[in-house]
Amino acid sequence: MHAARSPFLDACRSRPAERVPIWFMRQAGRSLPEYRALRGGGSILDAIRRPELATEITLQPVRRYGVDAAILFSDIVVPVAAIGVGVEIVPGRGPVIADRFEGPADLDRLRPLEPEQDTPYVLETVRALVEELDVPLIGFAGAPFTIASYLVEGGPSREFARTKALMHTDPALWAALVDRLADLAIASLRSQVLAGATAVQLFDSWAGALTRRDYERFALPASRRVLSALADLDVPRIHFGVGTGELLDLIGAAGADVVGVDWRVPLDTARARVGPAYALQGNLDPAICLAGAGPATEEARRILAEARGRPGHVFNLGHGVLPGTDPDVLARLVDVVHEEGRSDAPVDAGPDAPVDAAHGPAAGAAGRGRELSA
Ligand code: CP3
Repeated sequence: MHAARSPFLDACRSRPAERVPIWFMRQAGRSLPEYRALRGGGSILDAIRRPELATEITLQPVRRYGVDAAILFSDIVVPVAAIGVGVEIVPGRGPVIADRFEGPADLDRLRPLEPEQDTPYVLETVRALVEELDVPLIGFAGAPFTIASYLVEGGPSREFARTKALMHTDPALWAALVDRLADLAIASLRSQVLAGATAVQLFDSWAGALTRRDYERFALPASRRVLSALADLDVPRIHFGVGTGELLDLIGAAGADVVGVDWRVPLDTARARVGPAYALQGNLDPAICLAGAGPATEEARRILAEARGRPGHVFNLGHGVLPGTDPDVLARLVDVVHEEGRSDAPVDAGPDAPVDAAHGPAAGAAGRGRELSA
């Protein structure tokens, strides 16, 4: 069992941590040869329904990389699949829904989730993991908007045209839809935490497709309900989306402890946008890992420098590990972040680091870093 404090939990709580913690979204997955060997060819949803297999897959990246947190091997569509919505995860594409959500009658297909009956395998996996792990376990769910987008579009989408049309033509039906999906996320996340998960991440992966106004009106209220329904459990809540640079303050205000940042916004800019109340998670462009360890570690140093000087940075990629990623590059990133993200580490921000006294790593950031660890 893990300790109540860890670099990851400290950073999530914006407390000074002994070093910058690191984990990777999609750290368990196709980039790992041991994952491909174990998974074989079957459906990922079937793999998730096998606790022994799901436990082992969750542990693989923790063992290989020495990351500071594990993330449950599951998927954001598991709760809807468990209540009977026909969904298949098509390799190379993503979740595909058998019958799209089209009208009020489809609300009846979204009954409440009873985790002990509907997803016992998830809880069994969580319980097995907390026995095995000596780092925190992150439970997760899809945010109502992102899950709704799959249900309404029938699958992955670039434009979210049907989804946006529904919001604006029938706001009441949209509200009822995301309300049901919020209930599913609440039930799923609460059950994962009660089974032993020590942090949660709400994935609103596609929220960046929305204007601020539409996000505030059509997505934020349901996500806020999810995040606030976890408040009494006292676990850090990470809230993440891709392309959400213009929404970062709202992503925080929805009730997060940690705001996920993709690679498009530098962390110091993200900090200015969200203010001091939140930890930040991110934000290395996952594609740079494909360029090799040199470019990836150079970027990592830049990111460490941008976040340095105050507590509350969880190092991660700006989105999930891409399937073609060389695991050795991720291993190298873990080593670099662990070494150079120590609270007493000398600062090496690389050749492009700013040098002026107010913002430079030498004067400002390193000095503040030492104060924090004192
Ligand atoms: O390691 C981890 O991060 C934990 C496991 C995890 C998976 N899915 C396993 C998975 C997590 C956290 C998810 C969340 C998820 N699933 C999201 C939110 C995160 C994000 O990427 O924005 C989304 C949008 C999904 C839906 C989904 N599931 C997609 C788009 C895909 C990819 C399809 C493909 O083949 O490219 C999946 C499948 C999936 N989920 C895989 C894994 C490891 C890969 C397929 C496989 O191994 O069979």
